[in-house]
Amino acid sequence: MAIPEVSKIWMNGELVDWQDAQIHVLTHALHYGTGVFEGIRAYDTSKGTHVFRLKDHMRRLHRSGRLYFMDIPYSVDQLVDATKEVIRANGLESCYIRPIAFRGYGEMGLYPLEAPIDVVIAVWPWGTYLGDEGIKRGIRAKISSFQRIGPNMLPLAGKATGQYINSVLAKVEAVKGGYEEALLLDHNGKLSEGTGENLFVVNKGTVYTPPLACDVLEGLTRDSITAICRDEGIPVEEKIMVRSELYNADEVFLTGTAAEVVPVREVDDRPLGEPGPITRKVQEIFYSIIKAENDKYSHYLDWV
Ligand SMILES: Cc1ncc(COP(=O)(O)O)c(C=O)c1O
Repeated sequence: MAIPEVSKIWMNGELVDWQDAQIHVLTHALHYGTGVFEGIRAYDTSKGTHVFRLKDHMRRLHRSGRLYFMDIPYSVDQLVDATKEVIRANGLESCYIRPIAFRGYGEMGLYPLEAPIDVVIAVWPWGTYLGDEGIKRGIRAKISSFQRIGPNMLPLAGKATGQYINSVLAKVEAVKGGYEEALLLDHNGKLSEGTGENLFVVNKGTVYTPPLACDVLEGLTRDSITAICRDEGIPVEEKIMVRSELYNADEVFLTGTAAEVVPVREVDDRPLGEPGPITRKVQEIFYSIIKAENDKYSHYLDWV
């Protein structure tokens, strides 16, 4: 997806012109994947612009950094303020937000701890990742032939740039095969997650999602959806699942900051039907929250 250019990018404490936000080709992270990042969204509402769970995302960025011995040189609060600053500087009412901290220029080789840490926050207008039609009607998904990386290969609690080539391979395979998204199995062959989304399966009125031990990222949308289900009295549980539970599911949906809440209407060419009532209910509440029309969850919104 092409990135629509805006005016400014926040880079190491300063707002720089979009075209000037450059790095050297010998940047450590470019060679070895030594970066950690976040994906966040700001939404335009009748009450102004808010960022959804901004502080939680920046906390996760710090946690991701710690997993890779990266001491991010800006506090969570400084990153929160910087995000608002760059949104305002670009005059954006809604946008996608990409903070990234990475090992910069000056060292090569696989011992990165002497390399500097650069921090960037970029923002740009970005529609829903799997399309508005996907959100309405559901997407077609395929179980990937690539397995999710395991917990003793990389620490999966973090969002490190290097680990995403696993997702890239799965995504390309799915799209080339005519599907919109790939679902990956974990290191034990159990259901894990999408390439950039958490997975939910609905069966007989209960909502199930794979536990963190199935190599999933602890998604903030996953956490929000779990809270919504609990508050609505919809039973929600973590469960280790196999692929046939997808084929026989009453409903399946994916959640993530980029994708939001997306029904899955077909898995491995087995139709699941139109988005079901629990998916619709969860979507309705989620969208009321991000439109700032649901006071119960106003603590998720950080106003710009
Ligand atoms: C692999 C993976 N799983 C799940 C998610 C969903 O996480 P969140 O809801 O925090 O965006 C993401 C997105 O960051 C992801 O990259």
